[in-house]
Amino acid sequence: MCGIIAYVGDKYCKDIIINGLKRLEYRGYDSAGIAILIQNEKVIDKEQQDKEKEKNQNKDNNKNKDELIELIGNEPGNSSAVKILTAKQAGKIKDLEELLQGQNFDSHIGIGHTRWATHGAPTQINAHPHSDCIGKIVVVHNGIIENYAELKEELIQKGHKFISETDTEVLPHLLEEYKDGDFLLAMQKLIKRIKGSGAIVALNSDFPDEIVAARIASPLIIGIGKDGNFVASDMPAVLEHTRNFIIVNDFETIRLKKDSIEIFDIDGKLIQRDPFKVNWSITSAEKSGYEDFMLKEIFEQPFGIKETMRGRLIDGNLQFEELNMTEEQIKNLNKIQIIACGTSSHAALLGKQLIERWARIPVEVEVSSEYRYKDPIVEKNCLFIAITQSGETIDTLAAIREAKSKGAKIVAITNVVGSTVARESDSVIYTHAGPEVGVCATKTFTAQIIVMYLMALYFGKITGHIDKEKYAKIIEELEFIPNKIQLILNDADKIKKIADHLYKYRTFLFLGRLSGLPIALEGALKLKEISYIHAEGYAGGEMKHGPIALTDTNTTVVGIVPKDFVYEKMLSNIEEVKARNATILTIATEGDDEIQKYSNYVFYIPSTIEELYGILTIIPLQLLAYYIAKNLGRNVDQPRNLAKSVTVE
Ligand code: G6P
Repeated sequence: MCGIIAYVGDKYCKDIIINGLKRLEYRGYDSAGIAILIQNEKVIDKEQQDKEKEKNQNKDNNKNKDELIELIGNEPGNSSAVKILTAKQAGKIKDLEELLQGQNFDSHIGIGHTRWATHGAPTQINAHPHSDCIGKIVVVHNGIIENYAELKEELIQKGHKFISETDTEVLPHLLEEYKDGDFLLAMQKLIKRIKGSGAIVALNSDFPDEIVAARIASPLIIGIGKDGNFVASDMPAVLEHTRNFIIVNDFETIRLKKDSIEIFDIDGKLIQRDPFKVNWSITSAEKSGYEDFMLKEIFEQPFGIKETMRGRLIDGNLQFEELNMTEEQIKNLNKIQIIACGTSSHAALLGKQLIERWARIPVEVEVSSEYRYKDPIVEKNCLFIAITQSGETIDTLAAIREAKSKGAKIVAITNVVGSTVARESDSVIYTHAGPEVGVCATKTFTAQIIVMYLMALYFGKITGHIDKEKYAKIIEELEFIPNKIQLILNDADKIKKIADHLYKYRTFLFLGRLSGLPIALEGALKLKEISYIHAEGYAGGEMKHGPIALTDTNTTVVGIVPKDFVYEKMLSNIEEVKARNATILTIATEGDDEIQKYSNYVFYIPSTIEELYGILTIIPLQLLAYYIAKNLGRNVDQPRNLAKSVTVE
């Protein structure tokens, strides 16, 4: 995971890097660090600096400041006139920002990192940037160096000194080893030595006007600004400065100066690559008055859904040119294999039901981390779909590569333009939910569901298994879905009040059948992710085969009971748990008075057609998880131990 940002240009770099790190904090938030090159020790605002120093004099943490902020490069053997200021701290970016208050050096080139620990605890010493022996080279890294132990041993034999427990620390020492020649050349040698994954960005005080970077299987983008250039793990980090980007591919190295960008392939050959423009706005990556990103993103769902339908659902007709499949190829499909992780796998489970019901094509869903190791059978005429909001999940990427190596054609469904999965797939269907910052997936999930609805209908029409009337009715109803979601959101306060009662319960069971089952799984995942309460999603009919033993007065059961094909069956399942003294919250269709007999609390959603309830029932469950977590004082945007995009196994 981890987030990286680097800048070289005309502006002072410290705040650009800190602000960029704040936008990347969703990628990891256990420690953070920054390194900037100091051409001369001129301070921009000396008076301000002195005032802040004075203000901080009595603070306890001030005594450690000198250890946390270091001017490195005074070590014997370093003849460079330029020095490097590093600051690292365990904790959040705001702690790093506080630490750096008053450190207003005249510097225009720097790198920053927010960490999600893999090797070594989240301590100050293990925080990035890491440096070489004499303080000339600093490196930030996102990924895992699989052969670091062997490299470390080799470097120690050569006299290099290590201070951290990280795998990353081998990188500055390797660059130090390869110092003859230019810095870029050293980076090109380095990427041939390491195994594993990495987005690597480095500064060298002997090359004070350039940033050198490389990518092996971890995301890295270049941002082209008016007053300088950027490299970062993700576009939102630099959206306030530019919307023009270039994607860096695997095994490419780059050299960035304030007015030039060079990209090289694995053999060191210069590559020409055109930039592309994104239409994301900076406000879409900011909280816009909401207390948390998660809440903002829940409320953005009507818009994200409309955007995802736009261009695909036109005047009652479906268009799916991005699929790159002829009608003949679709008719010939004998299977669809979907792979995904986490929330995306719940969208996949719902998609399976829809495709099988409307298009009568058998669908298998597998979590990516299992698929990749099972020596999968890739049949002829099987379509392979990968769902991933980030487009960077390493297990999904590995599963795609496995399937591709066996001849599968890959369709990706992702929210991130130019992401690795998008680039490695044969065709891409983008969800247009806008940037999602909260770790907990919400608007990307409903956008994925919309793609599943549209795709299943499209396949159904082509295979001829859905009758015309039904098809037209569903399409018509789909167009009302954003408004119906808005109506649910308008009732958010009702869910809040329910959450104010339920947050004290320690066990939650989410029950659903058919489309309610993936939603039960997703509702339980939302709750456990951000509130840390034990929650399980279960098929209503399976209750009596185990989970019913859990139900007592300490249990809340959340029943997903819309007026769909299995309404009556769900009522019986709810009755079974009610008889065991569980507290019952039901999500039901407006006008269903009957349900009140079975429930302690009811939340009503607008009515729709049977197959479309999934996208409506998840909204109150997202809100329930949110308000319960807030009652418990949790950080909903950055839940403990989790990260938005999981680029490690
Ligand atoms: C992480 C995120 C989840 C997400 C999962 C899969 O665990 O915290 O919210 O569902 O990765 O991510 P993907 O980007 O592949 O959908």
